[in-house]
Amino acid sequence: MSQPRLADLVIVANRLPVDRVTMPDGDSDWRRSPGGLVSALEPVMRAHDGAWIGWPGSTDDADLEPFVEDGLQLVPVHLSEQEVEEFYEGFSNGTLWPLYHDLVAKPGFHREWWDSYVRVNQRFAERAAEVSAEGATVWVQDYQLQLVPQMLRELRPDLRIGFYLHIPFPPAELFSQLPWRRQILEGLLGADLIGFQLPGGAGNFVRLVRGRVGHKTHRDLVYLPDGRTVKACAFPISIDAAGFIELARTPAVQDRAKEIREALGNPRKVFLGIDRLDYTKGIYPRLRAFAELIADGLLDVEDVVFVQVATPSRERVEEYRILRDEIDRLVGRINGDLGRIGRPAISYLHSSYPREEMAALYRAADIMVVTPYRDGMNLVAKEYVACRYDDDGALVLSEFAGAAHELRQAYLVNPYDINGMKASLMEAYHAPPKETTRRMRAMRKQVVDNDVSAWAKSFLSALADIRPEHGKTVRPARGE
Ligand code: F6P
Repeated sequence: MSQPRLADLVIVANRLPVDRVTMPDGDSDWRRSPGGLVSALEPVMRAHDGAWIGWPGSTDDADLEPFVEDGLQLVPVHLSEQEVEEFYEGFSNGTLWPLYHDLVAKPGFHREWWDSYVRVNQRFAERAAEVSAEGATVWVQDYQLQLVPQMLRELRPDLRIGFYLHIPFPPAELFSQLPWRRQILEGLLGADLIGFQLPGGAGNFVRLVRGRVGHKTHRDLVYLPDGRTVKACAFPISIDAAGFIELARTPAVQDRAKEIREALGNPRKVFLGIDRLDYTKGIYPRLRAFAELIADGLLDVEDVVFVQVATPSRERVEEYRILRDEIDRLVGRINGDLGRIGRPAISYLHSSYPREEMAALYRAADIMVVTPYRDGMNLVAKEYVACRYDDDGALVLSEFAGAAHELRQAYLVNPYDINGMKASLMEAYHAPPKETTRRMRAMRKQVVDNDVSAWAKSFLSALADIRPEHGKTVRPARGE
């Protein structure tokens, strides 16, 4: 394998920040994935000769060499078909995902899944050890790679290592079910700084480390027997707010938003849900609440429509297949029972859309409905807020989404309480413009002042402040 340039900043994530696309001539090429993480990290990656290690997303790329795309150095990690089943679909998304999301589905505990998780984490750690310059900063991302910090530290004690968990970190009562709980905690403790979405997740982690591993702790610090100190605290992630605002203001997006409303029959109010088709997202109870409001005569399909976009996700995992069938059935029943000719109650789209179309949907929607049972943050809620540059529109938001801690002026709901959700949907529906403007203005300030680049800067600065005498310091410059 060709040797990539040694990097001073290395991002290690399950996926590379690019997707393979087929060109009109049949050739395939890479295109930057739309996520905010890569745009937030791009300036600092460029300034520090950064590299990004990740899985290209298919099993066909066994011989793919490190490559440069749009100036970013990308280092692929190959997964075999069996590893996709056992590491990605199995331990990551069949064990950790439901366990960390309040057991919304039942996690599977299978030893062969765990063995695969260990092997794949070791591979990522080895790649990171190979591409990191002396004293480099390595930032490991998310639940798929929780063993990497410790594995990497063993290979390269000179590195400064950060870890960020994008999903919730559960309370001890749930986490303790995991047969490999101690290994996961020790894996994470290989990092110098561990970031969580919310202070509650950081607190859960520190308590577990004290109780299960027996290390001394004080507030957000863990004291290891080898003299190292690990810090665990919250860094709520955000979006590229300026990018979304700019996009939402373009004539193309504004025209498309008008077109969408026309295609829907120019209803008085458009409700909108946009989610990965995931059982944590609470799509089912939200559609039921909306349908009941129509059945109760409080809303009329001549006046309103609910646009639900469900992005296909993890389709080979059993629970996701079951969910798709359940939502298909529910939407069919609601539209069959309550729709009229040319007026379905729910306009359901099982598809993923580019950023431009998402921005147009946000602009077209009067009421955005985000009702996960549990969510690390939920960036869709923040994207909607960013796109409402006229300070109009209402956000109905689950109190169990991380975003609810910042977007306090949303109509906060408990997704388990259908009647409560119905009441909040009606409150948002009838809210006078003065009230929606007051709420939206406050939320927009929060999102604009705390965007994803502020998030990346604060994490990297905190990481640079730990053991300042150790290694090179990768610190984002002012304005970077
Ligand atoms: O929310 C966690 C997360 O891993 C995101 O980072 C990602 O966008 C999403 O879940 C989808 O994950 P994947 O398609 O890689 O399973």
